[in-house]
Amino acid sequence: MKGFNGMEPSFKQENVIDKEERYKAFLRQFASLIEGETYKISVLANTCAALKEAFGFFWVGFYLVEDGTLVLGPFQGSVACYRIRKGKGVCGTAWAEKQTIVVPDVELFPGHIACSSLSRSEIVVPLVVNGEVRGVLDIDSDQLNAFEGNDQKYLEEIVRLLAETLYE
Ligand code: SME
Repeated sequence: MKGFNGMEPSFKQENVIDKEERYKAFLRQFASLIEGETYKISVLANTCAALKEAFGFFWVGFYLVEDGTLVLGPFQGSVACYRIRKGKGVCGTAWAEKQTIVVPDVELFPGHIACSSLSRSEIVVPLVVNGEVRGVLDIDSDQLNAFEGNDQKYLEEIVRLLAETLYE
């Protein structure tokens, strides 16, 4: 398939229980979802929709670096704060440190920015292009300890593919 052209690839995986298998199946379809379209907002929006559909995350979205701050980009979930400064919250910390941050319990993360009181754990993966952070992928769960090593590994791969496809 040459990109996503109005056909309906389903990212639902009702029969797949194992999370690693889900990520592997996701990645097999993801490459064709993001090829052939260069408009960032559209591709990031479809990425959020696909992740939400495949994994049922409570909140999944991107914050993008604009004029020296993180600004809310495409997302799926409830309304969220617009701007996050470098070093602030989980997102701003992932930006400042240029690394993924896994937060098993948001109440234990100093400076966590609560966009929803239902959010209990979180993972933030920076989107890095030529050593520069251009945005972050932020995923929230309404369960404690929702994210582990496999989430980090595969979400970093997904974000790396986005960086390569959209920014390089
Ligand atoms: N919790 C994030 C803010 C964004 S919302 O979760 C959507 C943070 O601490 O950076």
